Amino acid sequence: MDNVIGGVVNSAANDLPYPLISDSDPFYTEGRAEHTLEESFLIPWNDIGALRTLLENHGNKIAVLIMEVFNSNGGGASPRPGYLEAVQQLCKQYGVLLCFDEIITGFRTAIGGAQSIVGVTPDLTIFGKAIAGGMPLAAIAGRKDIFDLFRQNKVIGAGTFNAFPVSMAAGLATIRMLENGGLELYARRNNLQAKLESGLRKAAHAAGHDLVTLGLPGNFCTHFTAREPMWTSAEISANADAGKAMRFRQGLREQGVLQGLGSRWFVSFALTDEDVEATVDAAARAMERI
Ligand SMILES: Cc1ncc(COP(=O)(O)O)c(C=O)c1O
Repeated sequence: MDNVIGGVVNSAANDLPYPLISDSDPFYTEGRAEHTLEESFLIPWNDIGALRTLLENHGNKIAVLIMEVFNSNGGGASPRPGYLEAVQQLCKQYGVLLCFDEIITGFRTAIGGAQSIVGVTPDLTIFGKAIAGGMPLAAIAGRKDIFDLFRQNKVIGAGTFNAFPVSMAAGLATIRMLENGGLELYARRNNLQAKLESGLRKAAHAAGHDLVTLGLPGNFCTHFTAREPMWTSAEISANADAGKAMRFRQGLREQGVLQGLGSRWFVSFALTDEDVEATVDAAARAMERI
């Protein structure tokens, strides 16, 4: 949903919302076969009505629904209360597998991923990024009966870099460190993140800007707006001041602080109190000039 598989939401095509090729598609690339786009549907995240309509019309053609738990790539919005439970129920009703994309949130947000925070367990989950502390590794996990298909050789999962020993060792080491650090490790990081978020909000208000922070442990976004709550990427882009965000990012960069694209912040376990203070100071200076 939303930009997980690339393309932009075709809001005009209620009946066939497949990913569109358009100028506003950040993943636009030449040479993409049109029919591959028609093999998937792209619908807005956090809109249970859109999913219901899609499944009513095309549920029998859909194998799997892939979505983020929090919309990290769309501005950091949280799922509406009851949304994920309703998604799961609809998937069950239409025989569609539910796959959570925890590429950003897996292991970073909590050892059990974002799904452990919301309490909804999907049929499948995909992981990447933090799973191996920065080394290239991606993984898929899920229900035993689905994975039995690999064991029975009904489905092939071959690949040049499968089980690449260096990445596997990095993944194991990362997971052991996260497990051994336990809840304290996450609590310490979450505490620093809370300081960073409130420091950024205070710096903004002191310079006369409205700023909201949206996200979850380990990953949040800053938006120059007073509007709260915001539930969708469309709501965020309609309300947040993109020009200010761009100038803020540039002002931070000039002081050696790199903010992620899309106004994103990733809060690592290596962060210190001093890092947070230096970042908030840099943000305060940047806020004065935007
Ligand atoms: C939420 C999300 N899903 C999937 C991907 C793609 O993952 P990969 O680079 O492993 O294909 C990304 C970005 O890299 C992402 O941010």
